[in-house]
This record gives sequence, structure tokens and C-alpha cells, in this order.
Amino acid sequence: MIVLGIETSCDETAASVVKDGQEILSNVVFSQIELHKKYGGVVPELASRSHIELIMPVVDQALKEAQVELNQIDLFAATYGPGLMGALLIGMNTAKGLALTQAKPFIGINHVEAHLYAAMMSNPGLAIFPCLGVVLSGGHTALLLIHEIGSYTLIGQTIDDAIGEAFDKVAKMMGLSYPGGPMIEQLALQGNPDAYAFKSGHIKGREFDFSFSGLKTAVLYKLKGQNKMGEELQLNPKEQSDLAASFQQAALRDVVKKALAAADKFQVNTLLFGGGVTHNRQLRKLFLEAHSTLTYLWPSAALTLDNAAMIAGLGCHHYKRRGRGDSFALEPLTRIPFHS
Ligand code: KG4
Ligand code: ZN
Repeated sequence: MIVLGIETSCDETAASVVKDGQEILSNVVFSQIELHKKYGGVVPELASRSHIELIMPVVDQALKEAQVELNQIDLFAATYGPGLMGALLIGMNTAKGLALTQAKPFIGINHVEAHLYAAMMSNPGLAIFPCLGVVLSGGHTALLLIHEIGSYTLIGQTIDDAIGEAFDKVAKMMGLSYPGGPMIEQLALQGNPDAYAFKSGHIKGREFDFSFSGLKTAVLYKLKGQNKMGEELQLNPKEQSDLAASFQQAALRDVVKKALAAADKFQVNTLLFGGGVTHNRQLRKLFLEAHSTLTYLWPSAALTLDNAAMIAGLGCHHYKRRGRGDSFALEPLTRIPFHS
């Protein structure tokens, strides 16, 4: 089965051709980072406008690289949420339109679920269910018990900022460019992670939930503390690196602690990671140092950040399982909660 996947939930315009849910024939991602950089974050209207311009060239490129004609596509899959409404509409309508012209099925895919599926695509056959899903992205931070692909129980989630969002906001406060995650990781390499005693939030009685807004504010106070109010922030390079390293350590240690406690409580041996923050080398190192007998399944580099191969892969899986696609009346959703 040859699937064309389309992903436009945020600021990446992506299309990919995947064979039988696993074999990636092409994986084209056009990142709009340069467009949004000067605003310090994604501007939804600009993202939508850019998706409109880019989507067909990106789809054409994906078909060309895969050496597949449009009429050879068996299924058209697109992210239907969660994400930015205008952005989602463009990817979904493109997939629906193409499916209609080819008289082929269309399927809508949950972006967060696809991030977890990416780790399975990257490590075929290694996931032993039930697994613990660890979603760490710019929009989501959650621990999920995965009974099988498509069946999830929410164990914990953030009550305020997503972890990637916290990285992005702290980076912005420090005058670093968007997206902040890679900038913080880079800067932290030269820093002392114990220089500042930061902590992520603990919510009483909810051991697997996350809170990063207090940590973000603590960093802001350190920054402000260096200056008289109203003056330009001026940290020396050493202080900058120490601050980045201390923030990163506090955020990542919290994830490691809660994920391992959840793995223990729910008796799972496989952890499946998804989302842009799982690109972080220090995160992977902390997990390995903390526990080496668990199986950690990370997405490959090409499938870590937003991409359409994970959408096509999961689309194939769900289509085969259900034996049908979705109605063309399926609407995009900005939020798709998991249930506990
Ligand atoms: O999964 P993703 O591409 O998009 C969403 O679905 O949100 O994740 C993007 C997020 C951004 O917040 C970005 O700062 C973060 O992932 N990120 C990182 C790293 N690379 C990307 N965070 C920490 N360390 C990194 N190396
Ligand atoms: Zn994502």
C-alpha cells in the first residue's frame, strides 16, 4: 500500500510517500523557521499563507523523489489535529482534494499519536506492549500508557507550558533565536548545570503531571536580577551558558524522574519517545544514565521533528486495521485530548 502523507499542523509544510507503513520513499519537509524567526515564535496567519504557497510544490517534490505518480497512491493521509486551525485546513483539504481526484480514500491522523508512531517506524518490531509513550514537543508534554497502536490511557500531562514551549520561551527571554530548544541545548554544552538551583513544578497528588511555568519564571528572575529594571539584559557568556544548562537540567530531570516512576508503576519495559524535544542529546543521556535495562525507542533524526512520514506510516496502519478511511466531512481539530 502506497500512502501520501501531508503534515501542516504548525510551521512545517511536509509531504511524504511511505510504502506499507514502513518504507519511506520520500520525506520532504519545508521548515518555515526563517519566516517566523523575527517574531520569536510562530505567527498563525503567516503559517497558513505560507502553507498555501508551499503545499503543492512540496507534494510534487515528495512524489518526484519517491518516483511515484499521483495515480499510484492508494491512500491520502493528513494531520487533522491538534494544531493551528488555518494551517491544518490547508493540509487536510489538499489531501482530501487529491483523494477525490484519484477516487482514493482519505484518512485523518492525530499529530501527537503520529509522533509516537515515529519511534515505532524507526525501530520496527521492537515495541513490546504495553509501552509508555513520552511525548515531548512544542505543543505537548504527556505520558501515555500505550496498550496497542490506537489505544492510549493518559497518565500525566502538563498543566501549563509544554516542555518545548518552555525551552522556546526561556530562549526568547535570553535573547536567543527561535526555535529555542536547539539553541539552549547548544549553549548548555559549555555551562554548569548546577550553577543555579532550578526545579520543575510538582503538583500535589498528581505525581505524573508536569508544570514548567514556575521554572520559566525562576529563569526570568535570574535574568532580571542581573540588571536594574528597564535596562538591556546583559549576562556574560559564562552566565548565559550556566543559565541554559541549569534550566535544561531542571526541565529534563523532571521528565526522566516522572517517566521512570510511571514505567515502574505501570510495569512497562518499553519507553517510546516522540516530539521535537526528544532530539535533545542530554535528554537521551539522562535516560540512559538513570536506567539501562529499560528499552528506549527514539525516533530517528528524520522522524523527530514535524514530518509527514509519520503521518503516512500511521495512516497506513489505521487504514488496514479499520478497513476504511475517514469521511471527507472530517473537520480539523485544534485540540484532541487523550483520556485518562
Ligand atoms: O514536535 P515538534 O517539531 O513540533 C510540535 O509538534 O510542537 O517540536 C518542536 C519543539 C520546539 O519547541 C523546539 O524548541 C523543540 O521541539 N526542540 C528542542 C530541541 N530541538 C527541538 N528542545 C530541546 N532540545 C532540542 N535539541
Ligand atoms: Zn510535532
